[in-house]
Amino acid sequence: MTTREVHDETRRLLDLFAPGSAIEGEELVIGGCRVRELAETFATPALIIDERALRQRARRYRDGLSARWANSQVVWASKSLPCTAIYRIMGEEGLGVDVAGGGELVMALSAGVDPGRIVLHGNAKTDDELQRAVRAEVGTIVIDNFDDIDRLEKLVTNEQAVLVRVVPNVDAPTHDAIATGHANSKFGLSFDDAERAIARLRASQRLRLDGLHVHVGSQILSTEPFTRAIEAIARLGKFPVYDLGGGLGARYTHEMTVPSVEQYLDALVASAREHLPAESRILIEPGRSMVAESAMTLYSVVTVKRGAHRSFVAVDGGMGDNLEVSLYDQAFDATVANRVGRGENFTLVGRHCESGDQLIESVALRDPRIGDLIAVPVTGAYCMTMANNYNGALRPPIVMVRDATATLVQRRETYDDLLRRDVTP
Ligand SMILES: Cc1ncc(COP(=O)(O)O)c(C=O)c1O
Repeated sequence: MTTREVHDETRRLLDLFAPGSAIEGEELVIGGCRVRELAETFATPALIIDERALRQRARRYRDGLSARWANSQVVWASKSLPCTAIYRIMGEEGLGVDVAGGGELVMALSAGVDPGRIVLHGNAKTDDELQRAVRAEVGTIVIDNFDDIDRLEKLVTNEQAVLVRVVPNVDAPTHDAIATGHANSKFGLSFDDAERAIARLRASQRLRLDGLHVHVGSQILSTEPFTRAIEAIARLGKFPVYDLGGGLGARYTHEMTVPSVEQYLDALVASAREHLPAESRILIEPGRSMVAESAMTLYSVVTVKRGAHRSFVAVDGGMGDNLEVSLYDQAFDATVANRVGRGENFTLVGRHCESGDQLIESVALRDPRIGDLIAVPVTGAYCMTMANNYNGALRPPIVMVRDATATLVQRRETYDDLLRRDVTP
């Protein structure tokens, strides 16, 4: 490669990091913070979130939707990154919050999110969770099954707004584990059952049926499944509210093409204009595409093993902090963060006792050495939320960076935390 080609390749790597990220000397800088300093202060592995990029994304969604459909609300799907500081930011940006279960509800409320803007989801909501939601006066509860109706009828004393989740029979092209719109989905009600639920809710004294909900899956890379789902649910009649779910994909690698937020909203709203009542209220619930691209995971290289068939770089994290690869075969990219650039191909692996603990099957890394930092971009969604203690791993901290200042918003777990829940017999 010529020097210019090396330079271009290095610049291209930056594309996957939060907007505003830079290279100074050979070192990656995010939110104005040098990665070496971040690692010295907070150690590794660590999830680093660029606050400006996150807020910008929230505003792009909020302003983009309201410009296209005034009577609307963006509701962040908090399962993608449930951390009190993130709930607070989304609340500050005027977004609603989708919570799936009691834990997410508690975090949203403790972050000061307006309960009226909370949407409660779940295919197996317990009495306790429903009770908490009703007591907190959450704005909307999404009915997934007839038991939800039975339970709520008993619990609710004042009026409670609800939506009915409909299975639209849309088979979105994504990993099976995150497809939810097909006929066999465990989420929501078939058209026939939805009609029965609608009839029951219309007769209810306490539950106010506002409309329908649909969600076809996650990491969806074209707009067509979303527009087909709108067309499908429109067959159930006219309602004041339609919650069109989330699902837009994130761009994890250079090879991937993903609709922009604006392209996605254009398609969604065009379909809504065609099929839904003009006076209806539209909600959307982006999760992954809201938070993925403003964050990266910073690791340290523990060993470099050159073999006859493959060479491995092993880092101090892995499937304990990123299950996207083992669960959904998600592709990622990476760079040596203190020596940004491309070089020899390596398999980037974690430290856990499984061959499946592989972060990237093949990635060109520039001369990786023990003690180097490895940055994996686009890890904001579903990595922290599925982090675990496999092999006694400690769940990483979350660090927010902005204007050259880094703030710890969730500390690393400690070995004491691992022992804390034990009950001595
Ligand atoms: C009901 C519902 N809404 C929204 C989302 C968010 O999806 P995504 O993170 O793909 O945008 C999910 C997640 O699968 C979901 O189950």
